[in-house]
Amino acid sequence: MTPQISYGGDYNPEQWPREVWDSDYAAFKLAGVDTVTLGVFAWAHLQPAEDRYDFSTLDAIVQRATAEGMRIVLATPSGAMPPWLARAYPETCRVDFEGRRHVYGQRHNACPSSPDFRRLSVALAGRLAERYGDNPAVVAWHVGNEYGGACWCPACGEAFREWLGERYGDLDRLNAAWNTAFWSHAFTDWAEIQPPNALSEHWRGPNHTAFQGITLDYRRFMSDALLGGFVAEKAAIREHSPNVPVTTNMMGLYQPIDYHRWAPHLDFASWDNYPPEDPSATRTAARMALAHRLMRGLRGGEPFWVMEQTPSVTASRDVNPVKRPGVLRLWSWQSVANGADAVLYFQLRQSRGACEKYHGAVLDHAGRTDTRVFREVAELGAEFARVGGALLGGRTPARAALLVDWDSWWAVELSDGPNRNVRYLDVLTSYHRALWQANVPLDVVPVTADLSGYDVVVAPLLHMVKGDLADRVTALVERGGTFVTTALSGRVDEDDNAFLADVPGPFASLLGLRVEETDAQQPDVVNPVTLFDAEHEARHVFEVVVPVDAEVLGTYGADFYAGTPAVTRAARGRGHAWYVATLLDDAGVAAVVRAALAEHGLIGPLGDVPDVEVTERVMPDGTRYLFVLNHGEARTVPAPVAGTDLLSGRDLRAEDELELAPTSVLVIRCA
Ligand code: GLA
Ligand code: ZN
Repeated sequence: MTPQISYGGDYNPEQWPREVWDSDYAAFKLAGVDTVTLGVFAWAHLQPAEDRYDFSTLDAIVQRATAEGMRIVLATPSGAMPPWLARAYPETCRVDFEGRRHVYGQRHNACPSSPDFRRLSVALAGRLAERYGDNPAVVAWHVGNEYGGACWCPACGEAFREWLGERYGDLDRLNAAWNTAFWSHAFTDWAEIQPPNALSEHWRGPNHTAFQGITLDYRRFMSDALLGGFVAEKAAIREHSPNVPVTTNMMGLYQPIDYHRWAPHLDFASWDNYPPEDPSATRTAARMALAHRLMRGLRGGEPFWVMEQTPSVTASRDVNPVKRPGVLRLWSWQSVANGADAVLYFQLRQSRGACEKYHGAVLDHAGRTDTRVFREVAELGAEFARVGGALLGGRTPARAALLVDWDSWWAVELSDGPNRNVRYLDVLTSYHRALWQANVPLDVVPVTADLSGYDVVVAPLLHMVKGDLADRVTALVERGGTFVTTALSGRVDEDDNAFLADVPGPFASLLGLRVEETDAQQPDVVNPVTLFDAEHEARHVFEVVVPVDAEVLGTYGADFYAGTPAVTRAARGRGHAWYVATLLDDAGVAAVVRAALAEHGLIGPLGDVPDVEVTERVMPDGTRYLFVLNHGEARTVPAPVAGTDLLSGRDLRAEDELELAPTSVLVIRCA
């Protein structure tokens, strides 16, 4: 196996006759595919009954892939249970938010607390590892598939109470954490605690709860409960396959699971890149970059894998447009540019029936290799082969960081008041877009990350302040760094209880201000904010700020607080702490972010050219690669660096002009 960016994807030949396998592999050779993910959703044929295993189909599939020289990612099939299992053990089916026990159907729906599901899924994972673990072609284990969702069944209730027992030790601490003095909720026995759903604390859906504390803890618990299934399968695999890395395919910016809590249990991070619909190509690109960076940040900057992306269309939307010519290549290189060492597809061959029969694939139902999609896949495969191992293991040294925190994401959106229209991801993506456009090498990291290597730390909606975060942020600023945060930050402690102090709590003295009132308005209400001689639109939340010793940089233009601070900056030690007391439009956010970056000379190469993404990966031997990706229209730009473009072979001098066609990509080995 020659080292290169792993290329291939999900392959389910159990769905079609063996004659087709020959033409499949002939096509894979043409496409430069070197990696197949096998066995996802194979449970029903691996174990047709509880007391009967049958590996004959998977044996044949694995043997063939091995004989073809493929790198095999072997999946455990626990993402979808077989019908006999649900029939024998109805309590493996989840209870939904409304309290209804489900019956057999779909996938990704086993109760994570079901002892029968756990026993059977773990046993099968162990048998797979025992049978295939010493096959050197198996390069990774892929446990389950896209863990997610939630269950509210009695077993989960019991597991929740145990989880709470471990977290709080005694009921007094739990009652304090949940502030149960409110509405007569003091619990006197663990057995009184019910899973929070439509039958108990909620009304109007999962985000409307009478007690944020219990709901927040249930989110944390459910993330951990699902993780428990992964960890148990991984342990069973480890018994027979001690050295092959284990992962699961995550979903990027996926709210129900706190991937930061999962990260230590993964041997490497991997995720499925299906960006949500957005008419703007640039917004889509920036959003994908954010997710890539989040995945890279899970394990301290280690390379990750793109476990899935579609070569052309998805089937799950109401309307499913094809990827335009060149977009697959552009987005694939974008993954690599942001730290991926593998680019895999869902799927190599199209499903014949059921809900994904029109989902895109490398090979269509006819198995043609003369289609546009196949051609683009093969051209990219040839490029990856040409680049070989040059980029593998490259890391991105970043002096700027964006903080992401699932607890804050949950807490902000569970909150009654000040404004239900505040969406964590909208604000996060807006701040990220500004950082992305500036082409600053950026880490996206948890609030627990070591901040000592950064010059600029941006933390929008840092609602919850946990542990020693405020101290670490203060240290960053004191030693000369820049910290940027926004409205609704510094509001609650780890239990979602307000600080008995001025807002923004532990950040108030650092920011040199206090927030006295928080106004909220309908989405169409704009308050103009004047900032650096330009006017920007602010919406949703307007904090009325009393500056203590912060410098006022921007002011509101309307309402009774017209003329009062909307954007401030406090000088502390050798650095600065910025506060944006409202939710600014993209241009306003960019003005703040770029000014903060400029304090450290951190506007990156081509950081003034719209829609052009520039990232960097540095190899263990110090070789630097600069990726230039054009997500917008054709334009001519100065060469960002002297070097050689690996893709075209062209040598670039610093004074050269580059003509960037739409979707063009350069991978420049810096001179
Ligand atoms: C997810 C799943 C795959 C498939 C694709 C379709 O990523 O992991 O099994 O359903 O979506 O887009
Ligand atoms: Zn359950």
